[in-house]
Amino acid sequence: MARGKTKVLIIDADKAFAEKIAEILNPKGFNTTLCHTGKDGIHKASYTSPDIVLINYQIPDLKSKEVLNRLKGIDRTIPVIIVMAVGGERATVDLLKAGASDFLVKPIRSRDLLEAIKRAQTKRMADLEIQSKKFLSLGKLFPLLAHEIRNPLHAIGGALAVLQRRCDLKDDTITQSIEIIREEVQRLNQFIQECLDFSRPPARRRFAETDLNEIIRSSLNTLAPIIEADPGKIEVITHLDDDLPKIKANFNEIKQVCLNILKNAIEAIKMGGKLEIRTSSNPHKRPRYVMIKIVDTGTGIDKENLPYLFDPFFSTKSRGTGLGLAICKKIVVENHRGQIDIKSNTNIGTTVTITFPFSP
Ligand SMILES: Nc1ncnc2c1ncn2[C@@H]1O[C@H](COP(=O)(O)OP(=O)(O)O)[C@@H](O)[C@H]1O
Ligand SMILES: [Mg+2]
Repeated sequence: MARGKTKVLIIDADKAFAEKIAEILNPKGFNTTLCHTGKDGIHKASYTSPDIVLINYQIPDLKSKEVLNRLKGIDRTIPVIIVMAVGGERATVDLLKAGASDFLVKPIRSRDLLEAIKRAQTKRMADLEIQSKKFLSLGKLFPLLAHEIRNPLHAIGGALAVLQRRCDLKDDTITQSIEIIREEVQRLNQFIQECLDFSRPPARRRFAETDLNEIIRSSLNTLAPIIEADPGKIEVITHLDDDLPKIKANFNEIKQVCLNILKNAIEAIKMGGKLEIRTSSNPHKRPRYVMIKIVDTGTGIDKENLPYLFDPFFSTKSRGTGLGLAICKKIVVENHRGQIDIKSNTNIGTTVTITFPFSP
């Protein structure tokens, strides 16, 4: 936010009102975007990364709470100001409880509007600062920890190999114990790798013309042993657009994103189900983008967990690291200027959509 103008997204079905707000804010140096439906608001939020959102508590197409949740899913630190009319108190209190940061009552005086925007700006700056400090310290801590943990792990692995050679492998308890140690060592190594991936600085990244279809095929190839381990459990369906344009990207990073998302989907399909992967682009619209959609018919995600999915270490799995989606967000949003969005319904399934902007 420190760079350039503060971006304010205004979502209000009352066009004249939204324009009036923009007329107050634009001369003060704000960059405003107007939209008149919840769906358009979410769409614009995911493309323009606003610093502040103003939303009317009554929008025609979606419940304002849903829009709020989806906005928080895009970026949990965006301050959302609710615009209410007299009589909307109850709905507004609900929205404040659900994470909105402030509210304004119509008719709105310029002074009140500017004060609310100022409060939101201060909050946004503080949140961004905390976030960047957190990342900075994680970035320093992880490589150190990784080094300290990897060395003993290496030693444990070596010693285990010796034990395995010398022990009576007919004894089930011993073979089982050795297997447990081996699996846990592997799991710790994997965890360390994820921590390093998450904290790796952005330098030395190679971008080249990349075919997302090829990445999907390669990812499915990598995961084939897991998918085929239980034949018939997961039905994989692919719709890969033959005309998909290539984008400038880092193959390995995007493959890692696909692997993380596909692994989550596979883990969510506990009772058997479908895993659908689709690639597409929008050759005739602007802004132009290419899209990967990964849909599973797994357990789905509880509504209250949706805002936290991309937080480092957020996991609902007993053995999860909670770093998979944090890494995905970092690679897609920070490294490739793309967007990642997750929609989910418990017991129905989850859809992860990744888009990358591109210009031909
Ligand atoms: N496809 C999915 N279906 C159900 N839940 C999911 C899915 N993808 C992600 N999640 C939820 O998001 C959480 C975070 O995912 P992630 O960052 O990959 O960490 P981890 O897989 O280690 O738990 C998971 O613990 C799970 O609760
Ligand atoms: Mg995961």
